[in-house]
Amino acid sequence: MSGWKKASRLLPLFGAVILALTGCGDPYLSALDPKGPVAEAQLSLVMLSFYIMVGVFVVVMVIFTYVLIKFRKRPGQNGVPKQVEGNHKLEIIWTVIPILLLLILAVPTVITTFHLSEKKTGDDVLKVKVTAHQFWWEFEYPDLGLATGQDLYIPTGKRIEFELTSADVIHSFWVPALAGKTDTNPGQTNHMWMQADQPGVYKGKCAELCGPSHALMDFKVVAVTPFDFKSWADKMKAAVNRQPTTATAQQGAQVFQQNCIGCHAIAGKGGKLGPNLTAFGDRDKVAGILEFKKENIQRWIKSPQEVKPGNKMPSFGGKLSDQDISNLADYLQTLKVIK
Ligand code: CUA
Repeated sequence: MSGWKKASRLLPLFGAVILALTGCGDPYLSALDPKGPVAEAQLSLVMLSFYIMVGVFVVVMVIFTYVLIKFRKRPGQNGVPKQVEGNHKLEIIWTVIPILLLLILAVPTVITTFHLSEKKTGDDVLKVKVTAHQFWWEFEYPDLGLATGQDLYIPTGKRIEFELTSADVIHSFWVPALAGKTDTNPGQTNHMWMQADQPGVYKGKCAELCGPSHALMDFKVVAVTPFDFKSWADKMKAAVNRQPTTATAQQGAQVFQQNCIGCHAIAGKGGKLGPNLTAFGDRDKVAGILEFKKENIQRWIKSPQEVKPGNKMPSFGGKLSDQDISNLADYLQTLKVIK
């Protein structure tokens, strides 16, 4: 059996694998399933160029096949056929067609690019400042005086205006279902906007290689109705008065005051080197990637480098007792705003 025949036996398997793989992926992590006007506009550009590409491919293949058959060597034909060089009409046609295709591509692309880079202010706009860090996301709402880490809450139907920057290296802010990527560059502020049409959790990723834990730099956009957003913001503000009720959580709060508050803020108090933890208990992931449960919170506090190599949080495994870390985890779980 020839090598080609052997290889062709693998074709059905290859096809099956491709079919199976198309089922992979997250429904909310796809640019092909847009959930807002920005992602929709961007997808329509992608589809336009895709259809043009398919059209060009089909036409070229049809002509190619026609020429192959029509001008094939027939029995009894010998010698070199009549040589034809240059054809004014054809040359004009195959120069004009690509120019037209480029125009069809360029006009909507330029219009959409300008439309998507417009900045808006006013009552129907919510401003959010994004600061990327190795390897987490900081979100601030300057008009509301609020900040969150990792989970970005937004109201549906409202235009969210982003100012994006980075605290260290270049990252890229990407929520595939809502909008394309925008780089976050240190020392520079970039701009973009997005809008979610329906409530939902839209997953986001860092889309620029930024260090050993780049692939783990996930975040979420939680879109809720304007009513629920208002209630969320009110509860975030009211979090100042929150007190832990159980004994272990109260002790955990003390551990937090002594060890963590320099880097992590809760309800407006604390440092900004690490993620804001005001709504930590509402998250469904620890450090953006681990399942949200006490063991994982403890694991993270003990040895964060094991979970997300290269991040800036020190390990507390040798510094705090297991009891302290357990209390701290109890306390962190009480930091809820919604759930
Ligand atoms: Cu941040 Cu990749």
